[in-house]
Amino acid sequence: MNILVTGGAGYIGSHICVSLLRKGYSVIVADNLHNSEIKTIHKIEEITNHEVSFYEVDVCDSAALESVFVNNQIDGVIHCAGYKAVGESIEQPVAYYKNNVGSTLTLIEKCIKYNVNQFVFSSSATVYGNNVSPVDETMELLPTTNPYGETKAMSERILKDTAHANPNLSVTLLRYFNPVGAHESGLIGENPKGIPNNLMPYITRVAKGEFEQLQIFGDDYPTKDGTGVRDYIHVMDLAEGHVAALYNKAEGVSIYNLGTGEGTSVLELVNKFSEVNNVDVNYQVVERRDGDLASVYANASKAAKDLNWEAKRSLADMCRDVWTYEQRK
Ligand code: UFG
Repeated sequence: MNILVTGGAGYIGSHICVSLLRKGYSVIVADNLHNSEIKTIHKIEEITNHEVSFYEVDVCDSAALESVFVNNQIDGVIHCAGYKAVGESIEQPVAYYKNNVGSTLTLIEKCIKYNVNQFVFSSSATVYGNNVSPVDETMELLPTTNPYGETKAMSERILKDTAHANPNLSVTLLRYFNPVGAHESGLIGENPKGIPNNLMPYITRVAKGEFEQLQIFGDDYPTKDGTGVRDYIHVMDLAEGHVAALYNKAEGVSIYNLGTGEGTSVLELVNKFSEVNNVDVNYQVVERRDGDLASVYANASKAAKDLNWEAKRSLADMCRDVWTYEQRK
C-alpha cells in the first residue's frame, strides 16, 4: 500500500512516516518545507532503513499536486500539511483560511479524480470549542476561539460533505489533543522556528538555558492546582493511531479522538520534566493567555473500541524522549 503523507517532513507527519514504514507501507511525502526541513526525510530513512518518495510540493498548488498523483499509485492519503500557530492565525486569518482550507479542497479533489478512497485528516481537539471535558466524538462542535481552529472545523465539514456525495470514499477525522515528545531514537522531533507557542518546546528551551524563564499562563483556573489542564499524548502514540485508522476501512466518515484521556496540569508537566531529566525549569506565573481554556482532555474510548488503539507511553516517556531529541539535534 502506498500512502501519501502531506506535511510528512513536519513534526507529526515525520513520526507518522516512521510508523507507516515500520508497518510495511510505502510512503510518499508532499511538503513545501515551509515549517520543516529536508534533513528530516533523511532521518526518517535512517530510522526505518526504508526510502521515502519526497516531493517538494505545496498542497495548494493544484498542478504540482496533480503530478504526484499522476506519478504514483496512491492507495490512501494522510493530510497533515497546514499552518498551526494559533496566535499567528489571529494576525493572518486570510493566509490560514487560504492554506489550511485550500489544501484540503485541492487534495480531496485529486483523491476523487484519481479514485483514492481513503482519506485521513489531521484535525484538532480545538474543534470542540468550550464543550466540557472529557470531550467525545458525539458532541456538537462549538465555535473555536481563533481562525486556526475554524480552518480545522471547516475542513472537517468539507470532508464530511464530500464523503456523503462519494459513497466509496472513507474519511477519518482524527482529533489530536496535545502531541509532545519525540521518536525514542532522538533523531526526529519538534523543532519550531523562533519563539515556541506551545508549552513543551518552551520548557525545553528554558531547560537548555536558551530562555531564562517559562511563563505559566495563569494559576487561577478551576483545576487541580489552578494551572491549565491538557491531554498530552506522545507523538509516537499519535502516529500509531494513524496506522490504526488506515486499517479501519469503514465507508463514510469516522471520527476519533487521539488522546490519552488523562488531564495533566502545566505545573505537573513542568515538575515531571524536571524530575525525569534531572534539570531545573525556572518559571513564573503570569496572566492568563487570551483564548485559553481551563481544561481540555479526551474521552479516548471510541478509538480503543473501534481501532484497537490506545496511547501506551507515559508522561515520563514524553519528557525523556523530548529531552533526548534536544540533546542530539
Ligand atoms: N502554557 C503556558 N506557558 C507557555 C505555553 C503554554 O503556561 O509558554 C500553558 C497554556 O496556557 C495551556 C497549556 O500550557 O494551559 C498548553 O498550551 P499549548 O500552547 O502547549 O497548547 P494548547 O492546548 O493551547 O493548544 C494546542 C495546540 C493547538 C490545538 C489545541 C487543541 O497548540 O494547535 O492544543 O486543544 F488547537
